[in-house]
Amino acid sequence: MVQCPRGTRDFLPDELEKRRAYEGTLRNVARRFGFREIQTPIFEEAELFILRSGPNVLKELYAFKDKGDRDLALRPEMTAAVVRAFVNGMSNDPKPIKVFYFGPCFRYERPQAGRYREFYQFGAEIMGAATPETDAEAIAMASFMIKSLGLKNYKMRIGHIGVLRQRIADIGVPAERTAEVLQKLDKKLYDEARPILKDIGVADADMEDLFKLTETVGGTEVLSMVPGDAGTYLKEVVDYLDHMGVKDVEIDLGVVRGLDYYTGMVFEAEAPVLGAEKQICGGGSYTLSELFGGEKVFSTGFAVGFDRILLAMEKEGIEYQREGIDAYVVAVSDDVRKDSFGIVAKLREAGISADIDIMGRKLGKAMKSASTVCARYAVIVGANELARDAVTLRDMATGEQCEVAIADLPAKIRN
Ligand code: HAM
Repeated sequence: MVQCPRGTRDFLPDELEKRRAYEGTLRNVARRFGFREIQTPIFEEAELFILRSGPNVLKELYAFKDKGDRDLALRPEMTAAVVRAFVNGMSNDPKPIKVFYFGPCFRYERPQAGRYREFYQFGAEIMGAATPETDAEAIAMASFMIKSLGLKNYKMRIGHIGVLRQRIADIGVPAERTAEVLQKLDKKLYDEARPILKDIGVADADMEDLFKLTETVGGTEVLSMVPGDAGTYLKEVVDYLDHMGVKDVEIDLGVVRGLDYYTGMVFEAEAPVLGAEKQICGGGSYTLSELFGGEKVFSTGFAVGFDRILLAMEKEGIEYQREGIDAYVVAVSDDVRKDSFGIVAKLREAGISADIDIMGRKLGKAMKSASTVCARYAVIVGANELARDAVTLRDMATGEQCEVAIADLPAKIRN
């Protein structure tokens, strides 16, 4: 039997209906925040991702050559593509530009619970502004999204990558080795960071100071310990969030983020129920447009790991109620079967979701089908009622039934 490729999944109708509903919830939040949707190709020139992250990124990409010998890659995330689209066609639009997106991303990773090779992101970017308000908007929307889905147990942490980068430079780490050090700090692997820093020639005391900085965690009171303007800046961000009623945030200077294009504020949300792959959302401020041939434009964005947040919701016991359909039309006998198709057609035309048996089933079995498809009403078509231009309408939840004129049926079902 042929299976779907490793790290990918089929979404069968039960699962997909649920996913579409939650995607709709996120879409709704994004629109409420004034964002408009954008779509970019699923594959891009591989160079786009190499420009962003360096040639090392190739090993985690699905990269391939097409028949015209072009180097292409499936997108591992969508920020780079959105910025490319901005440089190509939106750079003269009034700022700020606020866009959101939803779709599959592909990373050649070792699949495990919550980590796939094909996964979905719901993300947003604000382009053309570099203010605390911008960062606060992005964080507020991420928080609103998580809450709208009903997830209770999560932690949102805000940091500032500029502070760490500055400190790393100040203690003598050359630019080309910064990423290596940040990677270790990201995972709090101090024992692995020490030999690297030693090799570079960083003094022991500076090393320990750096580690201490990444351990700066707490409320706004810790911001006084943040060197430079970053502390004041983050304080502003948190003040705006406070005014917007977003209280579910914590300062954590240890937030490093895996992708290396961030320059200022960075943030992450995690759901502890997920164990190892607990990060459900990540983002921050960055500039990328100048890399892709545009002018330098400050941006802030984030992406929710859609699959992971759904997993976390499931683990919290959040259940999805299947939507079902409005009506299921049932013929009592064969002689009214074709008239029943006339009735289902009228209902559909009136905007009502309606289905009908196409397997020649008898009344009892057809009524069972009405339950299987979660119909709210069964429309029972019998010869006697039909002679009066009427049918029997049965409420599937209560079992109550009454005779209804066919002309009144759509209104009755709708109400
Ligand atoms: P990221 O942290 O790489 O950021 O990915 C965002 C989210 O996607 C993660 O928090 C995680 O929930 C989910 N995710 C990542 N890899 C996988 C995987 N293999 N399987 C399942 N879920 C996964 C970005 O991609 C940035 N583009 C976010 C951003 C937007 N920054 C600024 N704007």
